[in-house]
Amino acid sequence: MCGILAVFAKSTGEIKVSKKYGKRLRTLRELAYRQSSCQRHRGPDHTGVVDWPDHGVVFIQERLRIVGVSHGDQPFLSDNEDVLLVCNGEIYNYLELAEIIAKRRGSYVPRSDSDIVLGLYEEFGTDIMHMMTGMFGFALYDKKTKEIFVARDPIGIIPLYRGYDEQGNLWVSSEMKCLVDVCDKVEVFPPGVSLRGTLDNLKEERYYQPKWIAEIPTTPVNIDALRKHLVDAVRSHLQCDVQFGALLSGGVDSSIIASVATKIMREREPNYRLKTFSVGLENAPDFKYSRMVADYINSDHKEIVFKVEDGLDCIRDIIFHCETYDVTTVRCSIPMVLMARAIKSGGLKMILSGEGADEIFGGYLYFFNAPNNTEFHFELVKRVLALHYSDCLRANKAAMSWGIELRVPFLDTNFVNHAMDIDPKDKIPIPKTPKNGRTPRIEKHILRAAFSDGFLPDEVIWRQKEQFSDGVGYNWIDTIRQFATDRVSDADFENAAVAYPINTPSTKEAYYYRTIFEEIFPGDGYAKTVMRWIPRADWGCPEDPSGRAQKIHSATTQDE
Ligand SMILES: *[C@@H]1O[C@H](CO)[C@@H](O)[C@H](O)[C@H]1NC(C)=O
Repeated sequence: MCGILAVFAKSTGEIKVSKKYGKRLRTLRELAYRQSSCQRHRGPDHTGVVDWPDHGVVFIQERLRIVGVSHGDQPFLSDNEDVLLVCNGEIYNYLELAEIIAKRRGSYVPRSDSDIVLGLYEEFGTDIMHMMTGMFGFALYDKKTKEIFVARDPIGIIPLYRGYDEQGNLWVSSEMKCLVDVCDKVEVFPPGVSLRGTLDNLKEERYYQPKWIAEIPTTPVNIDALRKHLVDAVRSHLQCDVQFGALLSGGVDSSIIASVATKIMREREPNYRLKTFSVGLENAPDFKYSRMVADYINSDHKEIVFKVEDGLDCIRDIIFHCETYDVTTVRCSIPMVLMARAIKSGGLKMILSGEGADEIFGGYLYFFNAPNNTEFHFELVKRVLALHYSDCLRANKAAMSWGIELRVPFLDTNFVNHAMDIDPKDKIPIPKTPKNGRTPRIEKHILRAAFSDGFLPDEVIWRQKEQFSDGVGYNWIDTIRQFATDRVSDADFENAAVAYPINTPSTKEAYYYRTIFEEIFPGDGYAKTVMRWIPRADWGCPEDPSGRAQKIHSATTQDE
């Protein structure tokens, strides 16, 4: 895992950069290095720069060493020195792919999982997107053909942005902050898309287009197959050369991942104890349940308790790191960043987490209001395809703000395809007072059923969802909302539509986050890279996405 930055310039030779970037800066390499410093937190272990002035190309990697610790520093150069690659992410099936390459070449040993992209490109050209499973964003340049090849993983687990500067040079980077001050036009690089060709003739291709995006699946659920697919996904995600751990939010999703990971590790090491972490305010409801899980799977568990004030202190840091003003994402990211720091200080570099299950199985409480199976399915599709604006963005950037790699087995491509291909009538939750006398059914019930036997305590397996930031303590949402609201005047708020015509903030809390975002990322281009997470108003849901705002929620803790 790391941060990458690539510049593809229109002109070649020693490029003098414009004075507006500062008197001392002379070359594109210097400018690129300076811009990449904005994401250096993603790569505490190493910075690698390759500069090909004759081609107008600079590639930079900020590296966190996790797989191929001693040989994997990037940028990677091919043996014939024609092809250059920077890749952020993990290619989970790289050993299988390495065998394919080895068969063709006689021998081949990749320097790390990322290196496989270069190997595949040399063997098969750019027609390789369907071979890899994993999370990634990469940029590749071929000297011989002058071809550029940039791509992002199917779901957008790994962040990637692109921008053009005033000279029309193309910039690609893991975090948007690297493009501020340099690019006039900035966009989210879309997930499941590759960009190929020469700089003046780039073609965009949507390589990930599964059937479930457009059609309603009809395959009935097979609980055993569902379980097997998730176990396989977790197994592939355990490939790691350094110490790792897992998050326990107290909810069912992260608990399943931790339990499965423990079972897999114990196949090799019978006494293995997973390191697990949970975060919250004192007496947070999540702690009780994560402790229950930790006891059940006998993990080495740590609780990270934060004070409300500590959380409020870092609102600005969060907006800087996560590059969003979405209310839910900001609220949820704060505990995550505090936790990432504590985990980092304990010496870990990689953690497993449960993101994605709520989108794939319909875990959000507003799904109880879905009018029918069709609407339910297409709402799931919309959520899955928007993950890179919300949970994926938060999970990756919040963890990487302290150099922690987060892995999300629910978003394994094979698992997503399997689970999204299940008939929505098997997935849809049914409220306690149903019309038509239907039997009530908890959200994500097929996922729970698949792991109900010997994986977790019943109380956790069948526990109703708390939205992440609710579970850390109900005080948290109320306090941060109040804190932000108090800092916005009525006069300013009334003027919101004029000040922010794009995604106009509809609450003072949203307005507050937006003003901070605007200071760090000025201009409409940046504002457009954010999508707001809101439940379906037309299904009768309140706009505040906090789970507690949804009627279905039954709070049982003393905070209520
Ligand atoms: C599902 O609900 C939507 C919205 O209420 C409606 O337009 C549609 O016709 C319904 N579809 C079926 C198959 O009932």
